[in-house]
Amino acid sequence: MTLEGELKDLATEIAREAGELALRRRRDGVHLAATKSTIADIVTEADREVEALIRERVDAARPDDGFLGEESGADRGTSGITWVVDPIDGTVNYAYGMPAYNVSIAAVRGSAEPESWEALAAAVNAPALGELFTAARGHGAWAGETRLAVTSDTSAGALLATGFGYDPATHDGDLATVRRVMTMARDLRRSGSAALDLAYVAAGRLDGYFERGLKPWDFAAGALLVEEAGGLVSRHDLDSARPMLIAGGPEVHARLLALLGEKH
Ligand code: IPD
Repeated sequence: MTLEGELKDLATEIAREAGELALRRRRDGVHLAATKSTIADIVTEADREVEALIRERVDAARPDDGFLGEESGADRGTSGITWVVDPIDGTVNYAYGMPAYNVSIAAVRGSAEPESWEALAAAVNAPALGELFTAARGHGAWAGETRLAVTSDTSAGALLATGFGYDPATHDGDLATVRRVMTMARDLRRSGSAALDLAYVAAGRLDGYFERGLKPWDFAAGALLVEEAGGLVSRHDLDSARPMLIAGGPEVHARLLALLGEKH
């Protein structure tokens, strides 16, 4: 088996176990552990517990790999592979009992910086939705036995998704962006989970997605899903505090890029 295939199998196995833990903890009742940068930026005890489980499993299976997790930070490994992990992407949904949350795990090669890494494998497990999306570089993106493909015909307008920053100071800018994008949209969604938005682009349930200010763990796994489903993912305005990520089928990506790619 290829390295990509092995990493995908491991990511999938860990994402399954981590998803079950998240679901169990959700049924036990959610305990808020802290608010982070703003009132909307929260972390639950389950986020920390799920990340600890993932880290333990990665360490046991591949002790030389690095780790970059939303809750526990970065550890450089020596193997050249780093695991980029969001234990619960969509934490606000999770805390409110909405099902659009997931465990997002990617294995990347090279530096732990998105601009210079190459994602090799990904698993996005949404346990409350009963959906698991996986990808290995060069081997496609999958939901179970179904191979994923981005949309190509958006002549009736594109169904797009986005997210908003947690800091109220960013809302005006994000809403101005939305206004600009609505010129090409059939409609707009805000799911509360960047990894799921990207998985849905890969699955052809959304035509495109854009968001400013994402962290590497929000998009590492989802971006590989989109690319392996025939789509494009790019990041722009990298020297700003909130770079813009754009994803979609090639045509929608190009149209979004024309509207949003430059600094606005
Ligand atoms: C958040 C979600 C949300 C996006 C935010 C992310 P978290 O991740 O993906 O959809 O709009 O930018 O930070 O905090 O729930 O892991």
